[in-house]
Amino acid sequence: MTSTGTKPPAHAPAPAIAIEGLRKVYPGSKGPRAAGPVTAVDGIDLEVAPGEVFGLLGPNGAGKTTTVGVCTTRIRPTAGQVRVVGLDVTTDPARVKRSIGVVTQFNTLDRQCNVWENLYLHCRFFAMGAKVARERADELLVIFHLSERAKASVYALSGGMAQRLQLAKAVAHYPKVLFLDEPTAGLDPQSRLSLWDLVRDLKASGTTVLLTTHYMEEADALCDRVAIIDHGQVLACDRPGPLKRSLGADTVVELALTGDPSPVAAHLSTIPGVSSAEPTADGLRVMASGADGVVAQVMEAALPAGLRNLSVTEPTLETVFIALTGRDLRE
Ligand SMILES: Nc1ncnc2c1ncn2[C@@H]1O[C@H](COP(=O)(O)OP(=O)(O)OP(=O)(O)O)[C@@H](O)[C@H]1O
Ligand SMILES: [Mg+2]
Repeated sequence: MTSTGTKPPAHAPAPAIAIEGLRKVYPGSKGPRAAGPVTAVDGIDLEVAPGEVFGLLGPNGAGKTTTVGVCTTRIRPTAGQVRVVGLDVTTDPARVKRSIGVVTQFNTLDRQCNVWENLYLHCRFFAMGAKVARERADELLVIFHLSERAKASVYALSGGMAQRLQLAKAVAHYPKVLFLDEPTAGLDPQSRLSLWDLVRDLKASGTTVLLTTHYMEEADALCDRVAIIDHGQVLACDRPGPLKRSLGADTVVELALTGDPSPVAAHLSTIPGVSSAEPTADGLRVMASGADGVVAQVMEAALPAGLRNLSVTEPTLETVFIALTGRDLRE
């Protein structure tokens, strides 16, 4: 595993989230739609430090929601131990729930209530008195830019507004740890950026955030550390910068070719600075570093194979995922 550790340094304070040997196997089902058991999480170890924004980055079905489900006491683990703010999620679920806020992958707003009532009732549920709950609901509307929609039905909210309301609800009772499962899935770019700002504000106020995403830019932009997960396992865990540098390349050249890429790949491997040339759907992905003029040499080598297009980028977390699995995040 590529890692400077799934654990923070030894002198770090007690972790906000500690996941040890977590496994979750969903049992199979019988009947006309019979299915075998599914191993959704297959031995995950992770620690998240207080105040950290930590990302679980992985493709569909990687086990992100299941991991969050166990941390938030919704799903019982098959094996392993998870502690949140020092409390065991299996033996102490009620106290864990009081310390956390959760935004699930699906809208959990109360559709019988308007925007303000959703917040007010949530505060009451978390044992605030009527006056305190009213003030907190008003304050949250301001913080999350929803004041103008206070009396609106939840049905009347845009996707971005609904997501802001879910986040407002999740932090209403001042949780120490916040779990956000795909917080920006389906949002337009502007709403996504506005949500990123809110997450940054929460971090600044000291909240620990565990978020899941399959958007590599999101993990890169928001997270102090990222665990790349696939098939229920952690493939790499580190800060985004070192993860990208672990590839040993500073340039990614995507070649779209009309002809056979094999001879080009062989030629490319002889060029100093080229570390790999892997086939893609329409050509080759070349990883290179350092050497001056390497892109020009790559282009020259590709010309005989009918070079249709060429793009040059820096490595991203997506490149790291591809290097680890041989697949794109969204395949
Ligand atoms: N209740 C369930 N019963 C059976 N299998 C399940 C159940 N929930 C999830 N799975 C399976 O477990 C695996 C992991 O699912 P999970 O929802 O944790 O992935 P994910 O990383 O959150 O994916 P996505 O990006 O699509 O949200 C998948 O193969 C999924 O089909
Ligand atoms: Mg999910």
